[in-house]
Amino acid sequence: MNSKKRRLSTARLFLFSTTTFLSFSLLTGCAQAPLGEQGAGPAFFKGSRKIEQLPAEAALAVPKNNSQQTNLGAPLTIFTDKNFVGSGRCALCHGNLADREDRDMSITNHWRSTMMANAAKDPFWQAKVESETSRNPAIKQVIEEKCVACHMPMAWRQFNINKQAYESGSGGTPYDAFINPANQLNKAAMDGVSCSLCHQIEDQGLGTKENFSGKFIIDAGIPAPQRPHFGPYKDTVPEPMQTSIGYKPLYSAHTNDSALCATCHTLYTPYLDSAGNVAGEFPEQTPYLEWLHSEYGEPLGTRHDISEQLDKVRLCQECHMPHSPAGGVLIAMPAPKESTGKDHFSQHHFVGGNILLLNMMQDNIDPLGITASTEKITDTKKRAADQLQRQSANLFLHGGTISKDTLTVAVAVENQVGHKLPTGFPSRRAWLHLVVQDAAGAVLFESGKPQADGIIMGDDGDEKNLFEPHYDVISQQDQVQIYESVMQNTDGEITHTLLRGAGYIKDNRLLPKGFDKKTAAADIAVRGAAAADGNFTGGSDLVTYRIPVGNQSGPFTITAELLYTPVSHAFMQDLTQDASLARVDRFVKLYSEADKTPVTIAGVKGITR
Ligand code: HEC
Ligand code: HEC
Ligand code: HEC
Ligand code: HEC
Ligand code: HEC
Repeated sequence: MNSKKRRLSTARLFLFSTTTFLSFSLLTGCAQAPLGEQGAGPAFFKGSRKIEQLPAEAALAVPKNNSQQTNLGAPLTIFTDKNFVGSGRCALCHGNLADREDRDMSITNHWRSTMMANAAKDPFWQAKVESETSRNPAIKQVIEEKCVACHMPMAWRQFNINKQAYESGSGGTPYDAFINPANQLNKAAMDGVSCSLCHQIEDQGLGTKENFSGKFIIDAGIPAPQRPHFGPYKDTVPEPMQTSIGYKPLYSAHTNDSALCATCHTLYTPYLDSAGNVAGEFPEQTPYLEWLHSEYGEPLGTRHDISEQLDKVRLCQECHMPHSPAGGVLIAMPAPKESTGKDHFSQHHFVGGNILLLNMMQDNIDPLGITASTEKITDTKKRAADQLQRQSANLFLHGGTISKDTLTVAVAVENQVGHKLPTGFPSRRAWLHLVVQDAAGAVLFESGKPQADGIIMGDDGDEKNLFEPHYDVISQQDQVQIYESVMQNTDGEITHTLLRGAGYIKDNRLLPKGFDKKTAAADIAVRGAAAADGNFTGGSDLVTYRIPVGNQSGPFTITAELLYTPVSHAFMQDLTQDASLARVDRFVKLYSEADKTPVTIAGVKGITR
């Protein structure tokens, strides 16, 4: 990742002269220059500058190697079945690694506290599966088969590969069966998106629709000890791993390709009409397709050797599995004497925006059966906060002109992410919080204020079961720019039930750079008013605020922030309706106790003359 450049821009101060020659047309967004240039160009504020939210990078110091870590958490599972082994077995040799500067590079230490490792233990996921099946009882089996395919992938695959051996023990529909500790496949299920699953995904059909929605291919026909675990290195010593677990480390270029991640990160969900009949399928999660249509993407089938320097292209792996800063990592310990240190070493960080659920898991390690310590979860939370605050978006202020009784100011948002922001699960949202204060500090105008209960003030989605439209111009406090996807059912009504989502009534999530909304396929199209907003384009949006200030003359202080939460209030309200179900009730309680303060992705402040 381009961390050097980002660090510079974070530190850049916007101190400019205060001429107000900005043309009005630019403010309304008719004439938009590239954002980077606008940010550095003539400014219209005295001391408009970025708000720093993070401590100096030194404070985020990466833990030292394993010997200095005392508490990793409850042991990882060590089950062995015919096709997979538990992550605890890999920990034996891949759990105590360090780079040249003795930073902790242990793969299991990084992975164990991620959302992927906890995909099956995730209390939000469990609640949602139970809610969906109770709303659509006639297709409970079908729904559960769908949900376990990615969230409990080892158990589901093992079951399908060898039904004879496991059917008797499974007892009922797959989710009900696997979640039961007495089930033979429970340990495999609860290990989530685990090592031995991801490293066995074959290079077959990757990046195609046959392969999406968790339909990756695992070749169960190859016997031990030739059965491969694919990786990015050509020169590994295979014997220790073959002898120990019966799998052979094997080079394959597809581990360095976004199409590997696409198998689970492109999700089509079937939907029902009001009569309960399957009426089609809708694109519930499409980060890979968004990425393909952006400047970071590249044509399907392009493969890179790990020694290649990529120019514009950024793979999912490069952002979500950042390379060890110091390199020279021996990838297994004890290292065979022929082993060489790797500079490309990919850290299994896998962080997105979901700090809320990490908090819940951290507060409930034992009840949820989490096999990561408080310390490990804190490490993952720091990585997520760092990624959100340093690598996700920038804000700029433009304008600041006062004409008659109106202050006009424009907020430019620049998306740095490799897909839409937010992307993924349709409960995510990011929004603009803008505050104008007079010279004495009194608040004159506020749009998008977060409330302690998770509501965004003024959001019609939270308060009225409608949705907040996309705006180009905001002139009232109850208008809020919320970047989100809102599902609708076959009758055109807003829905939060995944199996009723037939499409999006609104999708104004920030587009990645290079994303041309005019040529975007229907599955990733912009929906609602943003489609016609001329300055909502690949990589950016410009929102103009026209703020009534009466006869006050200023100076006014303007503060804008881009906020993020993974679970919208409306989504939560909807789920609460099923609180008679035990796991929904548990999640509703966890949510009500949780700190719902949104993460500030970016902030900017300016003072008018
Ligand atoms: C193709 C793989 C796949 C399938 C099938 C799948 N999911 Fe997911 N699910 C994901 C991914 C990937 C994410 C994380 C996306 C993100 O972080 O935005 C996710 C996230 C979620 C979340 C949010 C979790 C959180 O902690 O915020 C819920 C709830 C959820 N899924 C429910 C379901 C249900 C219910 C089903 C079955 C109807 C299902 N999933 C089927 C891949 C899948
Ligand atoms: C979601 C898929 C996924 C999961 C889960 C996963 N890995 Fe990986 N792993 C990868 C990919 C992809 C690479 C190569 C990345 C690249 O080429 O940049 C990799 C690389 C590796 C390597 C080579 C060293 C390196 O990091 O460069 C080892 C060893 C490894 N993984 C072991 C593990 C172990 C042990 C676990 C479980 C704790 C695990 N992996 C979980 C996808 C995964
Ligand atoms: C007994 C020790 C041992 C165990 C247990 C073990 N490995 Fe390995 N693994 C190794 C060694 C040794 C290498 C090669 C290191 C080298 O040559 O630098 C390796 C290499 C790898 C690679 C790199 C392959 C490549 O070509 O890039 C992957 C991926 C991998 N292991 C995954 C796993 C996973 C997943 C597990 C658990 C299911 C696991 N290993 C368990 C010792 C082990
Ligand atoms: C076997 C399916 C599967 C594969 C393959 C997979 N993922 Fe995931 N991933 C998931 C699921 C399921 C979740 C959501 C877990 C949850 O929130 O409950 C997830 C979540 C994530 C998250 C979000 C974490 C957060 O904090 O919100 C990131 C980032 C991610 N995956 C990156 C990757 C990358 C990069 C790859 C490819 C190297 C990859 N995934 C491959 C299933 C998969
Ligand atoms: C240029 C860097 C970059 C690339 C490339 C990239 N991501 Fe991300 N991704 C991010 C950042 C930063 C975030 C956190 C902000 C957010 O939530 O969108 C993120 C968030 C996510 C999330 C969590 C979204 C949420 O809010 O729940 C998932 C899932 C994810 N990425 C998957 C992927 C997949 C799959 C790919 C490859 C197709 C990919 N990413 C490529 C930078 C990147």
